[in-house]
Amino acid sequence: MIFWRVKPLDQILATAEKKSLKRQLGPIQLTLLGIGAVIGTGIFVLTAEAGQKAGPGMMLAFVIAAVVCALAALAYAELAAMIPVSGSAYTYTYGVLGEFVAWIVGWALGLEYAIGAATVCVGWSGYMNGLLANTDVFGLVQPGALALPEYLRTGPFTGGAINLLALLIGLAVTVLLAIGTSKSARVNAVLVAIKIIALTMFIVIALPAVNSTNFEPFLPGGWGSPTGGVGVLGAAASIFFAYVGFDAVSTAAEETKNPNRNIPIGLIGSLVICTIFYLLVGYGAAGSVGVQPMLGADGMPLDPGTPAMAAACAGSQALVCSKEPLAQVLRTLGHPLLGNSIGIAAILALPSVILMMMFGQTRIFFTMSRDGLLPDVLSKVHAKFHTPHVITIITGVVVAVCSALFPVGKLADTSNSGTLLAFAMVSIGVLILRKRQPERPRPFRTPLAWIVCPLAVFGCLLLFVNLSMFAKLFFVGWAVVGLILYGLYGYRRSHLAPGNAR
Ligand code: ALA
Repeated sequence: MIFWRVKPLDQILATAEKKSLKRQLGPIQLTLLGIGAVIGTGIFVLTAEAGQKAGPGMMLAFVIAAVVCALAALAYAELAAMIPVSGSAYTYTYGVLGEFVAWIVGWALGLEYAIGAATVCVGWSGYMNGLLANTDVFGLVQPGALALPEYLRTGPFTGGAINLLALLIGLAVTVLLAIGTSKSARVNAVLVAIKIIALTMFIVIALPAVNSTNFEPFLPGGWGSPTGGVGVLGAAASIFFAYVGFDAVSTAAEETKNPNRNIPIGLIGSLVICTIFYLLVGYGAAGSVGVQPMLGADGMPLDPGTPAMAAACAGSQALVCSKEPLAQVLRTLGHPLLGNSIGIAAILALPSVILMMMFGQTRIFFTMSRDGLLPDVLSKVHAKFHTPHVITIITGVVVAVCSALFPVGKLADTSNSGTLLAFAMVSIGVLILRKRQPERPRPFRTPLAWIVCPLAVFGCLLLFVNLSMFAKLFFVGWAVVGLILYGLYGYRRSHLAPGNAR
């Protein structure tokens, strides 16, 4: 039986009550927190990836990914309001499905957050490299004089040697986290404003330039393929990354006023606002300059993030080749300064998304270590900075190295594989808890749970099979390592194992 060692929900809630984090976040701050974590590399960078897989049909991909996220968010909201403690899906599953499943979810969340952070590092570097190549610093230098050589701009899979700026931003954020920089609500609000203004500016310029001929052919990659990674469904599986992060709202449950009401508002509110922006940006990009994919000899879109795609893109100005697509759209439409401005907005705002994701990863592994599932050293707290510095440094190095080597789309897909598993487990958890503990108070109830949750699980599975093969193989490797670790370590050392109670 795999559902062993369920940590009683009352015990989880009691532990949280003992700690006294000040409850100060209201619905608006929570929604801003969600938007701050959600808008990032997905919309700023992966729009090109989605275009390469699906052409203008990527607009459907935005809708499909939003629907799957919305279904999962409704499930998340029920558990987050019921169990308003830190640890997100890992904690929920520990209390509902037991330790083994919780381990799998925690391990998958590690993939989501760490590889997600690496994805955003690569996205940041795309905009930074673009800005360096396109600025003349108010006439002080020749345009392009500041650009890094090509081999330092991208990793080995896409024709370079190492993505230097991605490596550096990853390490810089690690230092900030290790010395205790945390997300400040005020800084977050400013960064959210920058992102919203940048996207609004994009929409205002791109929408009037939409030309219906750019939507033909609409589905050059078809709907998808049995092996995944292409077509509308392949694009949806990648662009799903753009919506990830709303679950950050649930990690703030212990600091929220009236969490039962405000957490669902924050989760769903941030998702709705981001979805509206994404649909308008996707429509504007596809309709104004066009997003027709680069095709291979077989007439199908080339797989992005591969040497073949890099070769086809050499010297091309096609939007699907761009590492800073939103800036490129504005430049193509005759607004070079605004193109640079959107680049600067991304450069300012994306590091906070990296910070949030790395923070999430360190706190999940910290909690797993505190539960005895990972070695104690990972929950060691630094005497001066009061941060879990050991896990922070390990995470930071892994994130920085991955971002230096791998292409953005492959990283996004890999991160999504972990997220999709966690979302599916949360949706299943809602139903199991409805059966097992029907009388437990539910401040927020997933509407039509017996339809919504199975649909959420189906949606997650559908997107999972449409991920690129690279991501699915990485996921399997990660899962195998996780299972071995659990068997050799967590299973025996868990604080819920016989004789280990603390
Ligand atoms: N949704 C976040 C992003 O797109 C993770 O960067």
